[in-house]
Amino acid sequence: MKDNSFAGNLYIVTGASRGIGRSISELLLQRGAEVVGVGRNEKKLREIERRHSGFSYIVMDLSRPKAGEELAHRLKGIVVHGLINNAGYAYWGDPLKVPVEEYRRMTQLLYLTPIELSLSLLPELKGGVVVNVISAIVHVRFRRMTGYGAAKSALHYYTVGARKYYKKRGVHLMAVYPGPVKTDFFSHPSFEGEVDLLRRFAVTPEKVARATVSGIKRRARSIYVPWYLRVISMR
Ligand SMILES: NC(=O)c1ccc[n+]([C@@H]2O[C@H](COP(=O)([O-])OP(=O)(O)OC[C@H]3O[C@@H](n4cnc5c(N)ncnc54)[C@H](OP(=O)(O)O)[C@@H]3O)[C@@H](O)[C@H]2O)c1
Repeated sequence: MKDNSFAGNLYIVTGASRGIGRSISELLLQRGAEVVGVGRNEKKLREIERRHSGFSYIVMDLSRPKAGEELAHRLKGIVVHGLINNAGYAYWGDPLKVPVEEYRRMTQLLYLTPIELSLSLLPELKGGVVVNVISAIVHVRFRRMTGYGAAKSALHYYTVGARKYYKKRGVHLMAVYPGPVKTDFFSHPSFEGEVDLLRRFAVTPEKVARATVSGIKRRARSIYVPWYLRVISMR
């Protein structure tokens, strides 16, 4: 029987053009939801729109200061059932050689934009959910992903600390911690093919999407993919 449990609900998914964000969007669409996807690659977003009648998109670079507020302004007044803060990338390398501009860009995209967006959309989100796609990296040390790990750790700390306050405003705050996932994430030029081992243990984006959507349904507080990665959070 077709699962229509998200029928009539609207979700905003950042980084919907590919990878985990695209898989989450497609699963929500399959379950009857409408999705507004956000990203920079219009060609890819248009292709998803062509395949799914419930999908529309906004082209935006979310690594710009105040991009979150700008996006929220464009969505003002629409009832939103969920916001999936997923857009992201990592700059790999010696932490002393990574350009400061990359630290700035990662901090904005991975940490500040999700906060700006969530706060600005709070009135539209009443009774809904904010999902922050973080990373299991917050529990381990990856020296060559220091800037990325620092920004994700900031989002992790925010998510855990602010959950109670979101709840008071009628919004459920959920965290997703994937391990390595088979997406374009590792194709960023800074990686220079140094991540073969990580790739070998990677799960599919569809697996992350299934765990996330099931977590939204049962109002989970945190999801680890694969589930056994939760043990590293207890160290
Ligand atoms: N893959 C992994 O191993 C892994 C593990 C743990 C956590 N994660 C996290 O999962 C999330 C999704 O990553 P993924 O693996 O699906 O990577 P991906 O395949 O590279 O997809 C990244 C998505 O983010 C969007 N994006 C990147 N920069 C953006 C910007 N400046 N403005 C707007 N959108 C932007 C991209 O869209 P456009 O190119 O269209 O802008 C794309 O849709 C990220 O937050 C990542 O940190 C990934």
